[in-house]
Amino acid sequence: MKILVVGSGGREHAIVWKLAQSPLADEIYCAPGNAGIADLAECVNIPADDVDTLLEFAQAEGIGLTVVGPEAPLAAGIVDKFTAAGLKIFGPSQKAAMIEGSKALAKEIMEKYNIPTAKYAAFTDKEVALAYLDANPAPIVVKADGLAAGKGVVVAMTTAEAKEAVESMLSGNAFGEAGARVVIEEYLEGEEVSVLAFSDGKTVLPMVSAQDHKRVFDDDKGPNTGGMGAYSPAPIYTPQLAEQVVQQVLQPAVDGLRQEGRLYKGVLYAGLMLTKQGVKVLEFNARFGDPETQAVLMRLQSDLVEIMLAVIDESLHEHELSWIEDAAVCVVMASGGYPGSYAKGQPISGLEQAAELSDTVVFHAGTKFSAQQVVSDGGRVLGVTACAPSIKEAIDKAYAAVDLISWSDCFCRRDIGAKALR
Ligand code: AMP
Ligand code: GLY
Repeated sequence: MKILVVGSGGREHAIVWKLAQSPLADEIYCAPGNAGIADLAECVNIPADDVDTLLEFAQAEGIGLTVVGPEAPLAAGIVDKFTAAGLKIFGPSQKAAMIEGSKALAKEIMEKYNIPTAKYAAFTDKEVALAYLDANPAPIVVKADGLAAGKGVVVAMTTAEAKEAVESMLSGNAFGEAGARVVIEEYLEGEEVSVLAFSDGKTVLPMVSAQDHKRVFDDDKGPNTGGMGAYSPAPIYTPQLAEQVVQQVLQPAVDGLRQEGRLYKGVLYAGLMLTKQGVKVLEFNARFGDPETQAVLMRLQSDLVEIMLAVIDESLHEHELSWIEDAAVCVVMASGGYPGSYAKGQPISGLEQAAELSDTVVFHAGTKFSAQQVVSDGGRVLGVTACAPSIKEAIDKAYAAVDLISWSDCFCRRDIGAKALR
């Protein structure tokens, strides 16, 4: 079968890497892909959100399965268009993907179906929102309603900060349309865990847990990023907790979405906070997480093509997932200045040496070829991922590979996974 993966990041590299292991995968294409993905797939120069051109390509090539990585094409209705054209595509419809596309909708569904989450209120009027902040002092969290590329959340430790966020989201143009509505919610304290699950609209098959590292610097300092590293499993996510999350979060979300006429097929990502009062949902995403996927898919033993086809054909109840016992750790190497401005086009050295290490895969996030060389082409450039019997060993292995790789002004966090050892 010919397979097309849509996207160009570390998550998509991990998806391509896993799909390529399936006997069902003959040829893999990736649009637009990156320099690392090009080792495993034919990269096609179509942007991930150019849905019409992607559809033309898939029809012309006779693609048997399309897999969507990022949220933008989902929100643009790629799944609806491919499905209407009779093509198999893995991901939720536009309506179902709104669970990520509108934080206010996600909150309404959680409230209606008794899914535990932070208390909240949604606003379009700035003055009303500011008055709410006077009545509900900081710490408090302000979120732009729509997609904001992971930058629409302000965890405000002071009321002044919260007001500034409301001002910029509801009157400035910080997030364009995405800021036309804000959700203000209760500040939650605890440990964060990401749980991704396959859903065919009815059956939920949860994956192993993972923990992201959102802040740019060690000890969770500095601004939020797209994710500086991940490990799997999260030791605090016990089997009992996993069972509880299926019963109280994942299954009710999928059932609720179905009842709302938003049949959810694809990966449902639950960002959870383990608070003293129990598990609460921070957010849902309509796709695999990045960089959680790099760590999680390293541990998946099952055939990913089979699972994805079962999601599309609504036969997930006939399947189980199997995992290797090893832990996995992904360390993101980034360009100096990220998540602010940074240089691109820096030649990367050490990739061949790192490729020789066992149980280690260097997933590319922002790279391209320039004059036959792999060069940096983004803020997050590589996700160096390793598997080992324990998290400690996986950390050491991942950093051993990191230490072989460099480019001008690159950096990474040095404490990925350290939380799991405490
Ligand atoms: P989100 O995009 O909703 O996952 O938010 C990004 C990050 O902001 C999360 O990973 C949390 O670290 C933090 N966050 C979001 N909502 C809350 C909340 N209610 N309380 C505390 N931190 C939060
Ligand atoms: N790792 C967070 C996300 O993918 O949204």
